[in-house]
Amino acid sequence: MDNETFFDRKIRHAGYDEVLEKIEINLLLQGIYEWCGYDFRNYAYNSIRRRIWHRVDAEKLTTISALLNKALHNPDCLQRLIASFSINVTEMFRDPLFFKAFREQVVPMLKTYPSIRIWHAGCATGEEVYSMAILLHEEGIYDKTKIYATDINSSALKTAKAGIYPLESMKKYTSNYLRAGGEGVFSDYYTVTDNGVKFHSYLSKNMVFAQHNLVTDSSFNEFHVILCRNVLIYFNKDLQKKVHNLFYESLGAFGILGIGDKETIMQTDHDQHYEIISKQHKLYKKVK
Ligand SMILES: C[S@@+](CC[C@H](N)C(=O)[O-])C[C@H]1O[C@@H](n2cnc3c(N)ncnc32)[C@H](O)[C@@H]1O
Repeated sequence: MDNETFFDRKIRHAGYDEVLEKIEINLLLQGIYEWCGYDFRNYAYNSIRRRIWHRVDAEKLTTISALLNKALHNPDCLQRLIASFSINVTEMFRDPLFFKAFREQVVPMLKTYPSIRIWHAGCATGEEVYSMAILLHEEGIYDKTKIYATDINSSALKTAKAGIYPLESMKKYTSNYLRAGGEGVFSDYYTVTDNGVKFHSYLSKNMVFAQHNLVTDSSFNEFHVILCRNVLIYFNKDLQKKVHNLFYESLGAFGILGIGDKETIMQTDHDQHYEIISKQHKLYKKVK
């Protein structure tokens, strides 16, 4: 930093010093990593920064260092902080045209396989997984499919396993289902209970839910399809590359990769290894 002294820098950054903020964020993320093994050091900086300030306010603190102190000495605070880094927003048949493209352009290939393994990485509360099960059921191939659905967030996985969702969401999900090319009556797939709607057990029978961290855990099978949608958007470029390596290694020959509409396989070391199935809907086939 040339001749600029620490005190010059303090003056340049009036209010909350930007450099200091970065130091404190790095310390916080490093501290969490060393203390409990959760590695958020390569999440997208601006998004993680917003989450951290939100927690500083919610914990009624004024500095990031104070948040680190509290998180290290108060397990509940640590849990709240970690939970706040995982954004679980999802819906059934999210981006309906993605599912339509999957049905029209991927399912015909899957129909030729004797058995199918699908990995939903970052499945959140499971709505995407039940959507896939319904689609495969309508196409007559669910019985030969095993769906592995993973997430870092154990409380989201609990909801996913239960398969119970708010009744109020069904109007939107029915509309998504129809736009996604659904061929049946959406309400036939669930029953209304006191707690919400429960999806039938014939949909969940071939699902396995497990905690898996894309940053620190390795591959656990070879898959015909990997869907990881709206997860990589929260990672920085280096981490995106690392996770794309994991997906590449975990896909068999001609395996299908589906990512979110704001995500990309460009600049990942592997863009040359995939053929585009649908550019618009971010579906790719491993060819090399
Ligand atoms: C916005 S949701 C996406 C859910 C679903 N795939 C969809 O598109 O609707 C992002 C999910 O990624 C999960 N996630 C974040 N970091 C992760 C990591 N390192 N390993 C596994 N899952 C992670 C979050 O817990 C969250 O449930």
